[in-house]
Amino acid sequence: MVNVWMRRRSWMAQGVLLVAAAWAALVPPAARADTDLPTKFSNIGSVGNTRHNLMQRQLSGGGPAGVTMDSFRNDYLEVCVYCHTPHAANRTTAAPLWNRTMKVTTYQTYDLLNTGGITQPVSQPGAASLTCLSCHDGQTAVDSVINMPGAGRLLDTQETTENAAFLNSWNNTRGPDATVHARLSSTECLSCHSPSGGIPGAGATDFTAFAIGTDLRNDHPVGVRFPPAGPGTDFRDPGRKETRWAYYDNNANGRADSNEIRLYNSGEGYEVECASCHDPHGVPSAGPGSVFNPTFLRVSNAGSGVCLTCHSK
Ligand code: HEC
Ligand code: HEC
Ligand code: HEC
Ligand code: HEC
Ligand code: HEC
Repeated sequence: MVNVWMRRRSWMAQGVLLVAAAWAALVPPAARADTDLPTKFSNIGSVGNTRHNLMQRQLSGGGPAGVTMDSFRNDYLEVCVYCHTPHAANRTTAAPLWNRTMKVTTYQTYDLLNTGGITQPVSQPGAASLTCLSCHDGQTAVDSVINMPGAGRLLDTQETTENAAFLNSWNNTRGPDATVHARLSSTECLSCHSPSGGIPGAGATDFTAFAIGTDLRNDHPVGVRFPPAGPGTDFRDPGRKETRWAYYDNNANGRADSNEIRLYNSGEGYEVECASCHDPHGVPSAGPGSVFNPTFLRVSNAGSGVCLTCHSK
């Protein structure tokens, strides 16, 4: 944490402080916080053109200036590698060719609130949530991968434990090497990306809402079993049921397409997980080539389309 601030100071010393000071002289305080700026990614065609491109520069050209972040996360010069690897993937989790460190964590689950509406068992988040939480709970650096690009750049003790020395061994051929491996937490990535911590005028948008943390009591329940569904119940029945998942097969092709909401079975029956509603690669809103649904949703939530897929209300 101290390191982030030290880096920030050196980053500011590189001229940004001057920009910020100049900005401060011109703009009244109320207008200065960088809240919720529109994204510079196009959100079209590929995960490489979304905020899930951790190089933070768009594949199709344009987009944000990822170099600003070079001191805070390794730029692996590839998109998929922050999450997947073709070889030597993480064996501790049932996620596809998963390349991230999966810290073992106990989350505060939604049912701890004891609301009346939860009738089903709630367990700790399953693999299809832990993937997301491996970044969004703010406990693990966004660049903490097991297998870096290039032969022999592998550390399998990274499967559950982040290792700064290993991450520091990455040499960024495009810009400065990262010496801080920041997390999505208030003191790290959010030290720039929040209205209170941001450098006014620097262009860092507010990511506070995306830093979910380990307290899931204020989030739609995950790890919650899907109740009996169909006519006469409050839930719509997912038509297709297979061993590993059930899904709303809207085009009846017998496959769980990315634009179809699904429930995951990790051995406790069908459950809601983060990836029930979200696809981290982006889902076109109106067929190939169209802009992705906002916030990586599988279906548009206009008219509460996400909610009404499962809930019959
Ligand atoms: C030193 C301040 C600073 C830190 C620390 C920082 N960022 Fe940024 N970030 C910026 C600025 C400034 C921009 C806008 C750059 C531009 O578009 O030219 C930005 C842009 C982004 C964008 C693109 C936003 C969009 O949709 O256009 C993403 C994603 C991002 N940062 C993620 C991160 C992550 C993840 C971390 C932590 C590993 C991080 N940032 C740490 C300053 C920072
Ligand atoms: C930010 C993390 C992230 C990035 C970057 C990412 N993925 Fe994924 N990917 C995931 C997650 C999480 C899943 C599991 C989704 C689920 O639980 O159903 C997944 C699943 C997959 C799957 C199998 C299931 C499916 O949805 O088709 C494939 C294939 C895949 N990713 C390919 C890629 C490729 C190729 C890239 C780079 C172009 C990439 N991914 C980039 C997170 C990511
Ligand atoms: C993938 C299916 C699915 C989707 C999509 C979904 N839900 Fe749920 N929801 C559930 C399940 C399962 C429960 C738990 C039911 C139970 O325990 O009886 C639940 C519970 C709830 C509850 C009850 C909470 C309580 O404390 O009683 C509310 C409210 C709710 N969902 C709202 C929403 C909203 C709003 C959306 C859209 C943003 C949404 N749901 C989308 C499956 C879903
Ligand atoms: C490799 C790290 C990583 C993983 C894994 C990951 N995310 Fe993200 N996600 C980010 C970063 C970085 C951003 C940019 C904003 C921020 O800093 O939170 C982001 C942004 C988002 C946003 C906001 C998108 C927008 O355009 O405004 C959503 C929604 C999201 N993630 C959901 C998910 C879900 C759901 C999963 C799992 C299926 C997931 N993420 C997995 C790192 C990750
Ligand atoms: C039942 C469906 C559902 C589940 C499960 C779900 N989300 Fe979301 N999520 C949504 C919807 C709908 C939005 C858009 C909310 C809006 O536009 O304000 C959203 C928005 C987000 C955002 C953007 C910030 C915000 O508040 O708008 C992030 C980040 C995110 N989800 C991550 C996650 C993660 C991580 C999980 C698992 C712990 C998860 N989601 C589980 C439906 C869901």
